[in-house]
Amino acid sequence: MAQAGLLWSIKRSFAAYVARLPDGRLSLDDGVRPADGDQLYFALDAGAHDLSFAGAVRFTGHFGMLSVTIAAPSLLLDAPELRGTMLAGLGGAERRPLVHFRCRYSDDAMRLLAGDVRLAADAVALFGGTYGEGECFDDFEVLMPGSGEERVQ
Ligand code: HEM
Repeated sequence: MAQAGLLWSIKRSFAAYVARLPDGRLSLDDGVRPADGDQLYFALDAGAHDLSFAGAVRFTGHFGMLSVTIAAPSLLLDAPELRGTMLAGLGGAERRPLVHFRCRYSDDAMRLLAGDVRLAADAVALFGGTYGEGECFDDFEVLMPGSGEERVQ
């Protein structure tokens, strides 16, 4: 069983686009690890009071013109509406909205499953304006604390 954290491929078409660039590069920092199915794993930040995750992902290419950083994502959940927003460091110090989503818990309540993941208005500039607000991003899931061996490193 995997450790508590966030599993997300972000947006496969974007990762594939960067991978096609002659100088395209994906760097994983502060503990982000590749996981199954092109997903990236961000460990739960156990010291935080909300659902926050450690680690940073940076896509670069086009000789420095393309630089997309997603760091320390955290989730704001609106439980009655089963909707939420993921905030992340997008290059600046402050966390800003990256995507909005719908979510539900798995039957055993050990995973939070997010779908209908849509780019937030605040993050349109991050992708050079190529994706509009509401652009579909990949579904993600959160392995909840207590769902496995999250304290075993
Ligand atoms: C020298 C500058 C650039 C050139 C010539 C360029 C060219 C292209 C081309 C030809 C495509 C479509 C073809 C493909 O999918 O491979 C594309 C897609 C895209 N570009 Fe660029 N681009 C440049 C800079 C940037 C920058 C600075 C960003 C900012 C993040 C960016 C973000 C994107 C995105 C998000 C897509 C869509 C990927 C997808 O989901 O399919 N590009 N670009």
